[in-house]
Amino acid sequence: MNILLLGKGGQVGWELQRSLAPLGHLTALDFDSTEHCGDFSNLQGLADTVRVVRPDVIVNAAAHTAVDKAESEPALARTLNALAPGVLAQEATKLGAWLVHYSTDYVFDGSGSRPWTETDTPAPLNVYGQTKREGEQLVAMHCPKHLILRTSWVYAARGGNFAKTMLRLAQERERLTVIDDQFGAPTGAELLADVTAHAIRHVQQHPENAGLYHLVAGGETSWFEYAKYVLTQAQIVQRAIKIKATEVAPVPTSAFPTPAKRPLNSRLNTAKLQATFGLTLPPWQQGVDRMLAETL
Ligand SMILES: NC(=O)c1ccc[n+]([C@@H]2O[C@H](COP(=O)([O-])OP(=O)(O)OC[C@H]3O[C@@H](n4cnc5c(N)ncnc54)[C@H](OP(=O)(O)O)[C@@H]3O)[C@@H](O)[C@H]2O)c1
Repeated sequence: MNILLLGKGGQVGWELQRSLAPLGHLTALDFDSTEHCGDFSNLQGLADTVRVVRPDVIVNAAAHTAVDKAESEPALARTLNALAPGVLAQEATKLGAWLVHYSTDYVFDGSGSRPWTETDTPAPLNVYGQTKREGEQLVAMHCPKHLILRTSWVYAARGGNFAKTMLRLAQERERLTVIDDQFGAPTGAELLADVTAHAIRHVQQHPENAGLYHLVAGGETSWFEYAKYVLTQAQIVQRAIKIKATEVAPVPTSAFPTPAKRPLNSRLNTAKLQATFGLTLPPWQQGVDRMLAETL
């Protein structure tokens, strides 16, 4: 299998370099790769890359993920999150290739408390969500052989993440305030990458299972409960860690005004993915424990 991975340096892209390697020959690119164009702001360059590499599978882990920044640069966010995936979809179809693409809980408006299913109607609250939704539509429209995997609250051992930020702040400050009215599932880039590799293998035998899937770790939490869990676990994993914070206080989303509005209910129902691919999505704590053990 000839695989083209885009966005290889991101949280998910980094783990995909590992999980996709055993599936075949992997060409992995970033926005500044010199071998082939991997820059999503260069739509012609991206199309040329697909024509030259001639992959059987394209995996797109690149995106404009700076949710607040997207509000002030909507054109760039649209190019990276919608138009470029659309180009990949068109080029994939010309080759008969598969396209794996990631999307987000931010396509929903966050109302209610029920986990969103794949048939629920998206209604994004911000530019990032709007451009990711358009990307989903363009991928589905132009490339029947697609897997669109919607996920949420992604973290990885490599680079910065919410858990590491909480740990740093807890070592610097006596009191932390954390949002307690947004709910979702922290999902490790490792899990996303591993499930992606399984799904790619599966659809080679079962192309009828192309489509849209929700993919997050099991269970649910709030940012507040997540932060408390991280601080507790960190002290178990690394006894020498000095936590200064004696109080972690829950606050509503309104306590942290941001340019982009966030959905309160980011719960995603993963029943379709687990049933279709015969996979089990472990509880979110499992991946967070591993990440803490690796990074502390
Ligand atoms: N992070 C989350 O919480 C989250 C939640 C739900 C869904 N998702 C989705 O999951 C997927 C993977 O996200 P992630 O967390 O791995 O994001 P990430 O770590 O921000 O990775 C995105 C990658 O895209 C790259 N990129 C930026 N501009 C580019 C350009 N012009 N051309 C090519 N690449 C460019 C980034 O490079 P630089 O780092 O150098 O800018 C980065 O390597 C995305 O589709 C995202 O929308 C993420």
